[in-house]
Amino acid sequence: MNLDFRRQKAFISGSTSGIGYAIAKSLASLGCEVVLNGRTQESVDNALVKLQEEVPEAKYSGLVCDFADTSQIDALLEDLGKIDILINNVGIYNDQDFFKTSDDSWNEQWEVNVMSGVRLSRALLTSMMKKDYGRILFISSECAVLTPSNLLAYSVTKTALLGLSKGLSGLTKGSKVTVNTLLPGSTLTDGAQNFLEAVAQKTGQSIEQVEKEFFKTDRPNSLIQRFETVQEIADAAVFLCSPSASAINGTALRVDGGSVGGLF
Ligand SMILES: NC(=O)c1ccc[n+]([C@@H]2O[C@H](COP(=O)([O-])OP(=O)(O)OC[C@H]3O[C@@H](n4cnc5c(N)ncnc54)[C@H](OP(=O)(O)O)[C@@H]3O)[C@@H](O)[C@H]2O)c1
Repeated sequence: MNLDFRRQKAFISGSTSGIGYAIAKSLASLGCEVVLNGRTQESVDNALVKLQEEVPEAKYSGLVCDFADTSQIDALLEDLGKIDILINNVGIYNDQDFFKTSDDSWNEQWEVNVMSGVRLSRALLTSMMKKDYGRILFISSECAVLTPSNLLAYSVTKTALLGLSKGLSGLTKGSKVTVNTLLPGSTLTDGAQNFLEAVAQKTGQSIEQVEKEFFKTDRPNSLIQRFETVQEIADAAVFLCSPSASAINGTALRVDGGSVGGLF
């Protein structure tokens, strides 16, 4: 297994915390130079301090960009430089009734979740093709397939990523560049932890009971019946971006604990 990332540089959108940070940390610990991203200088600086503490040998830098603000994206693209691995990770969701979801809410989720990946891939794929090496990975979601009714707008953006990723992989034909998508299941990030704690406080249940109830009612097909760890997602992402995944292109890999169901 070749997990050698030395002499490679990765940009991970939305990576000051959560799944994005876990991917950045794992890549950094395997020798990859990583570029972290968040919306404020403070959050980026804090994440870089944390990364240096956790991976002292890490090569890293940070770029501030709010993907909801299109006026910030050109500056980011100019500062990015040469990137071998692009992880389109940033994603936001609004837990909302379909009839109460405004156009602005739809547009914001589309901009951040889909257009960030469109713009970054458009800027970086050409140089990857010239170099004849590169990895683009989209972080979609189990919601791309499950489309929960309280997360319709979010789910639609995550389904769109499957088409975008597949289409882009077609542009890499005959090269050593790959474009793939990873579909995580419900994952224990700070947001999920806050959700569990809030429900536990409201209902008087323990956090373990809330988690059990969530999987019983909201994710009944899940085979693992628990939240995934960010490390479980990062491990799969690292493999897909590694030299060893050279024959995996145009694929959508579910790391959903079985929640989506189905044979494939
Ligand atoms: N967690 C899950 O259960 C789950 C399940 C399936 C799929 N996913 C997908 O996995 C990806 C990561 O999810 P996560 O749960 O780790 O997310 P998260 O914890 O909400 O991510 C927070 C990160 O995103 C950054 N961010 C948020 N909005 C941004 C924006 N407009 N521009 C730039 N950065 C922004 C934050 O930066 P700052 O706060 O520093 O600005 C922070 O680094 C998303 O695409 C999500 O849809 C998550």
